[in-house]
Amino acid sequence: MTLRLSVIGTGYLGATHAACMSSLGFEVVGIDTDPAKVALLSQGKVPFYEPELEDLLAKEIASGRLTFTTDINAVADCDVHFICVGTPQKAGSLAADLTYVDASLDAVARVTKKGALVVGKSTVPVGTAARLRARLQDINPDADLAWNPEFLREGFAVDDTLRPNRLVVGVTSDAAENILKEVYASNLKDGTPWVRADLPTAELVKVAANSFLATKISFINAMAEICEAAGGDVTVLAQAIGYDPRIGNRFLQAGIGFGGGCLPKDIRAFMARAQELGADQALEFLREIDSINLRARQRVIELVRKDLGEDLKGKRVAVLGAAFKPDSDDVRDSPALDIAAQIHAAGAQVVIFDPKANESAAKRFPALTYASSSEECLKSADIVLHLTEWKQFRDLDPVKLKGLVKNPIIIDGRNALNRESWKAAGWHFRALGRADN
Ligand code: UGA
Repeated sequence: MTLRLSVIGTGYLGATHAACMSSLGFEVVGIDTDPAKVALLSQGKVPFYEPELEDLLAKEIASGRLTFTTDINAVADCDVHFICVGTPQKAGSLAADLTYVDASLDAVARVTKKGALVVGKSTVPVGTAARLRARLQDINPDADLAWNPEFLREGFAVDDTLRPNRLVVGVTSDAAENILKEVYASNLKDGTPWVRADLPTAELVKVAANSFLATKISFINAMAEICEAAGGDVTVLAQAIGYDPRIGNRFLQAGIGFGGGCLPKDIRAFMARAQELGADQALEFLREIDSINLRARQRVIELVRKDLGEDLKGKRVAVLGAAFKPDSDDVRDSPALDIAAQIHAAGAQVVIFDPKANESAAKRFPALTYASSSEECLKSADIVLHLTEWKQFRDLDPVKLKGLVKNPIIIDGRNALNRESWKAAGWHFRALGRADN
């Protein structure tokens, strides 16, 4: 008999997981405490921008296999429950806030049938799974808990969920592993690597992976600082070291650094947990990774001051991009929006255009001005900042745009524009980590 699945928490991870599992033929019920979100999802609408997800969701809702509700009792008959709620950074601390994970576990534990498997997917501090497993079995001795971290990237969420590059399952029994093998049978058939681990290792794989990615980005941004000081070019340097397969060329794009709902808070929560474990020295380097990352934002602001002078009052600054990365409307800890807000706070008139994130950015920073096109954004600008590398920005015509601005100065905060064509069109072109800043 086909397994019945529940997905608790229908944010990025949960909504995508629910739709993808349904597309594999499972009956899936998605639970969220937010009635507005449940209402939207039930109509096949996604409350955030993620390519491919809305089409898939609408299709799965229409199939009748996928439903959403706020009523936790609806999961009572499910065989497997995926916990996909958020673990944001706690206010005033580096640690993760586990309120939602704890509440979801309790809610599921109370209603689930005997023999069900609860599977954590949220990113949690190591040790959480064992604690939750004990709590689950206190309430419901016949249920078991496994940990199955998620590695999806925003912008590629559907593809990453349906075709993950590995599946990691933290389990304490063969029975739990076998249930997960049934859930992921199609991936196993396709040859997706399967890693069985204990609970703490499975939790650690996730934060270790994100810490490694953050380290790669901050490494190249540190090299960018050195290139600027020494007159080198970080894009050439990245290309050259990337040919060594031990290093690899991905995640070596120097610029304003990493943001989003995962990397920044994950490395901080990891440091906080290491301290609790008495192993803080092991992750001391992540503090530096965080500082390098935040410093990149200041370097853009310094470049703006270099061109416009210390006093930014009244200057018109055009900002292309607000999302933390392209193909997303997510502005959580977005380097682009942070730079825009800081320049605004310094007295400049900041005009932003992002193809998808204007609305989410305006919710966070209503005082900034939002334009509905690149052209409108650039009108009469004293300087242009390219801060999120949407494809449509790479396709802009520097010749045409030059006629719109007051000063043809552009800072490429993502090293993604074609410097030669901007320069040939008469722009003063600056970029992080490249000579002639
Ligand atoms: C990240 C991980 O890549 C996923 O594997 C993980 O599942 C996810 O976090 C999570 O924990 O849920 P995501 O936050 O979607 O995914 O974004 P990334 O593609 O990793 O990019 C993160 C940030 O790094 C972005 O702000 C991006 O602009 C920046 N970045 C990335 C660089 O500055 N340079 C690069 O070379 C690559």
